[in-house]
Amino acid sequence: MRIDIITGFPGILEEPLQQSIIKKGREAGAVSITVHNLRDYADDRHKTIDDYPYGGGPGMVLKVKPFDRCLQKIAGENDLNAARIMMMTPRGRTFDQKKATELSLDEHLIFLCGHYKGVDERLYSLYKIEDVSIGDFVLSSGEIAALVITDSIVRLLPNVLKDIDSAWSDSFQEGWLDAPYYTRPETYRHLRVPEVLTSGHHERIENWRNEKRMELTKKLRPDLLKKINE
Ligand code: ADE
Repeated sequence: MRIDIITGFPGILEEPLQQSIIKKGREAGAVSITVHNLRDYADDRHKTIDDYPYGGGPGMVLKVKPFDRCLQKIAGENDLNAARIMMMTPRGRTFDQKKATELSLDEHLIFLCGHYKGVDERLYSLYKIEDVSIGDFVLSSGEIAALVITDSIVRLLPNVLKDIDSAWSDSFQEGWLDAPYYTRPETYRHLRVPEVLTSGHHERIENWRNEKRMELTKKLRPDLLKKINE
């Protein structure tokens, strides 16, 4: 998979993209991630990437040209028709595990990071762009949303997690929350690990975990149950 991230603030992305699971995914060759600095595609002396909104009002708008030039550069290396271009914006459809799974099967993703009042709307007339939000709240930067989405996708790629079954049993993957987990020691202060987990009986353990998945989902996220039953 190839991921391109176009941003006015590459510094926000640099370190997190070199840590933990994303680092592993890159080293394993499961994903190649390129961060493009929008300022490198500004064509004036001051490297301007934003400007005042026509019609007035507070806030700044990201200019269309730097995005266009950057996307043209990417198009010179890869066919953009085979890529999925996504704008990080609170007006988008809310990202979820189903979407993460869907995107993990794509070959080329391009994330555009909005800022301020967003991007000159004409960019949408030049390219097929899908708006994506990570929740009903406003971030000051699309970069954080791009990181959240990148992380959730990379961990689903082959050869990234040591145990991919671990990802498939995660909360949300099947619509349920995941069961609680315990590790050594078997007794801590007066608290013992549930008996069944030390029984070595795989079927009983799986049944117990399924029961807990349902119990926890019912208690903490009853809204998810409704979704599963729809
Ligand atoms: N940019 C600002 N807020 C955002 C959100 N909730 N999701 C994605 N991008 C954003």
